[in-house]
Amino acid sequence: MTTLPLQYDDIQGTILRGYRVDLARHFILSVCDKAAAGELILKLVEGRDGLPRITSAERWLKKPSGFLNIGFTCSGLAALGVGAEQLASFDPSFQRGATNTDSASAVGDVGTSAPEGWIGGLADGSQVHILLSLWVAKDPVLLESLSTRLRQAFAGAVSELSAHDAQALPDNQVHFGYRDNIAQPTIAGAPPRKHPAPDDQEVIATGEFLLGYPNQSNGVYSVQPPELSRNGSYAAFRILEQDVAGFDAFLNEYAAKAGIDAELLAAKVCGRWRNGNPLTLRPDEAGATLPADQLNDFNYVSPQLSQDDTLGLKCPIGSHIRRNNPRNGAVVGTDSAHHRIVRRAMPYGPAYDPTQPSAAARGLIGYFINASLSNQFEFLSSQWNLLSDFVKSAKAPCNPDAGDAVFNISGEDVFLGVNNTADSSFTLAAPGSKGENNTVLEGFSRMITTRGGAYCFLPGIGGLRYLAQLATT
Ligand code: HEM
Repeated sequence: MTTLPLQYDDIQGTILRGYRVDLARHFILSVCDKAAAGELILKLVEGRDGLPRITSAERWLKKPSGFLNIGFTCSGLAALGVGAEQLASFDPSFQRGATNTDSASAVGDVGTSAPEGWIGGLADGSQVHILLSLWVAKDPVLLESLSTRLRQAFAGAVSELSAHDAQALPDNQVHFGYRDNIAQPTIAGAPPRKHPAPDDQEVIATGEFLLGYPNQSNGVYSVQPPELSRNGSYAAFRILEQDVAGFDAFLNEYAAKAGIDAELLAAKVCGRWRNGNPLTLRPDEAGATLPADQLNDFNYVSPQLSQDDTLGLKCPIGSHIRRNNPRNGAVVGTDSAHHRIVRRAMPYGPAYDPTQPSAAARGLIGYFINASLSNQFEFLSSQWNLLSDFVKSAKAPCNPDAGDAVFNISGEDVFLGVNNTADSSFTLAAPGSKGENNTVLEGFSRMITTRGGAYCFLPGIGGLRYLAQLATT
């Protein structure tokens, strides 16, 4: 793979760097005065008037205490003056927007997750123009003071439809109690990663995450005008509410039905134990947390019997991490390296305490970043999370009589699927020629509801200057 040198100071930081902070605030904005909005963008690019500056991926000597990034929806780019002909060169899913019926049905935003019910002004995609995200290491006072400065600068340029806060839970946990942020793609040319620890997974072409560079298919995603293409990227912003009590009840009820421990079922639906250890490496019990450099150091298919899990006997083929990155498992179409995403999401809402259950809203909020919303975020959601027939026929290299992978997956992702009591299912595989010894858990409900979303374009720093100028002239 040819790796072109990347100009870090022209790339928005969140694309290539995990900020590893405890607090975030996402502002949802609507342009009310085009020229004033252009001025605002320029001020943010330059960090003028005491405003925080848009963070680039440039190396820092001392870690900043705050980070700021900005994305635009398709209607946002139009509001700033990008012409219809140019917008037609953007990713088709981005052009449709997250509230469009086709996008919504592709990613499971139907029923209680349908865009009509979204909060904070997100239901009307035509009015959602800008997503401005502020991250702060730890200090809530700093979050408030930076927010105050930003809000003063919004006046007359953009109106704030809503703001959504996120707050890290201890040890990188998400609300279902799992440790998160272990697996991220290694991007060709990106700054060397410390967290999550580097792993031996395939390095993914830059063009899967940035426009203007060769991607895994040796094509190049790009848009018009070239100023926007250079170092731009896309992201699906999501507010995903988690029903923690419902998830706990599911684990207890269905573990009893399957005759296994609830913690094992929790590991099976995710693919990792709650402490982060992958089932592929620790199939029987969680054990002590593995060293960071081992947590993501595995594949599903191996010629060595002890390491092979072609059939999902250790890590179910329908588990969350295997659906979202089947690694070297055989899938219909191109391989998993063509559909990777960078995840930059954090929990929101108070930690759930089973001894004092509260109905407070809690979940995961943030960005799923890629160079093609159609081929990455929407593909993952529609083909791998919501279907079970993407798995290719495959036998275990060392044990061909143990069955075939295609029989060992059913239903939709337990976390993200549009699960309902009539037809949800999840397979716990056991050796047997056609899955005849499998345990199939059926009839559980949806545990995650989409409360909001937006498809955004994250221009490079030069692209932001171009937009600012376009809007002000
Ligand atoms: C509230 C919603 C979600 C929860 C609770 C959740 C939870 C998790 C957990 C616990 C992990 C394992 C930690 C890790 O490997 O880093 C994980 C990994 C992952 N998730 Fe999610 N997730 C959610 C939403 C999503 C969505 C919407 C997508 C994309 C459509 C997604 C894609 C992934 C991917 C790509 C991985 C890494 C898989 C790998 O490379 O092995 N997740 N998620």
